[in-house]
Amino acid sequence: MDKLRVGVLGATGLVGQVFVDVLARHPWFEVKALAASPGKRGLRYAEAVSWRLEGEPPEAVKDIRLVEPTPAGFSGEGLDIVFSAIPSSVAESVEVELVKSGFTVISNASNMRMERDIPLVVPEINPDHLDLIRIQGKTRGWRGVLVKNPNCSSAILSLPLKPLLDNFGVKRVFVTTLQALSGAGYTGVPSMAILDNIIPYIKREEDKIESEPLKILGKLRRDAIETPGISITATATRVPVLHGHLESVTLELASTPDIEEIKATMAKFRGKPQELNLPTAPRNPLIVLEGEDRPQPRLDRNAGAGMSVTVGRVRKVGSRDDSWYRFLVLGHNLVRGAAGNAVLIAELMLKTGFI
Ligand SMILES: NC(=O)c1ccc[n+]([C@@H]2O[C@H](COP(=O)([O-])OP(=O)(O)OC[C@H]3O[C@@H](n4cnc5c(N)ncnc54)[C@H](OP(=O)(O)O)[C@@H]3O)[C@@H](O)[C@H]2O)c1
Repeated sequence: MDKLRVGVLGATGLVGQVFVDVLARHPWFEVKALAASPGKRGLRYAEAVSWRLEGEPPEAVKDIRLVEPTPAGFSGEGLDIVFSAIPSSVAESVEVELVKSGFTVISNASNMRMERDIPLVVPEINPDHLDLIRIQGKTRGWRGVLVKNPNCSSAILSLPLKPLLDNFGVKRVFVTTLQALSGAGYTGVPSMAILDNIIPYIKREEDKIESEPLKILGKLRRDAIETPGISITATATRVPVLHGHLESVTLELASTPDIEEIKATMAKFRGKPQELNLPTAPRNPLIVLEGEDRPQPRLDRNAGAGMSVTVGRVRKVGSRDDSWYRFLVLGHNLVRGAAGNAVLIAELMLKTGFI
């Protein structure tokens, strides 16, 4: 098959660099256009970017000249997909302009994630929510399509919640996140603020973690998503770790399975990406670790090339008859929590006829 032509908006940022890295070696996609802030238009990618990943920018993209982040800038390349990694403050106008002009945009920015006709997708959990695209076209009159990637902590948390909800019912969730520095972008947290420290607050993060998983775990009924009756209470903290968000979860189930049942249910969880054998789908979306001191960001964030989420320390709270449980979950915020999940959405859209 001919490769699909793709573009990246925000290609010089941290998430943008992971997009470029993954897409440059992708079997189905070929990077044809890159954009950053308007002032970088015309620069070669290699001179415009401060490359923060290991090694050098991929050869295939080094000489691509950055275009203006507008429909006119992207229009020359006949793009099939635009991946977006720009700040949400600018995404509303930039992304919507592209979609109105007919582009298919898969976006990491947080604006519009909760709007009822915008799919918010973790491909293993809610591939069917892509059907909202049909409603989007009718209600908004857009020529293109907008699909959103969830907040990093929401995507990571939603993965273990899915098999628990389907098999045992979930009533209440309390989660405390220990989020890595790269979740705030390269310049997001000053080193003087975070070295020898933990910051017990991340602006606007807790709202997202309390609401987005409910949409992702919801059922698509006709043209709307019915959210499950779960309450999520979140505390978000920033810790001096480079990549990998760890989340400490305490939850009440609707039944009282034993710990081994819970672990086995999570470990055997598979979704549509595994069924379709999509190129970036990890073999196991959830990996249950037995070590009493796992998961750890440095040791476990690259599981499944950063696309698997690892779970550990699954325990009961209180007596054997109690329905309260605890575990830790860890995921790579730039991969499963951002660019990797977005590329998996694109693969799913291609295989299921949305592109
Ligand atoms: N980091 C994570 O773990 C993570 C996870 C999930 C979602 N997200 C979301 O993904 C997006 C990118 O995050 P990031 O961490 O990669 O941020 P970042 O490192 O600050 O990168 C931002 C990118 O957007 C570009 N940009 C800035 N202003 C622009 C404008 N007016 N028009 C077009 N492009 C513009 C920047 O270009 P210049 O280099 O020219 O400034 C850069 O390429 C954000 O919306 C963020 O909330 C991040």
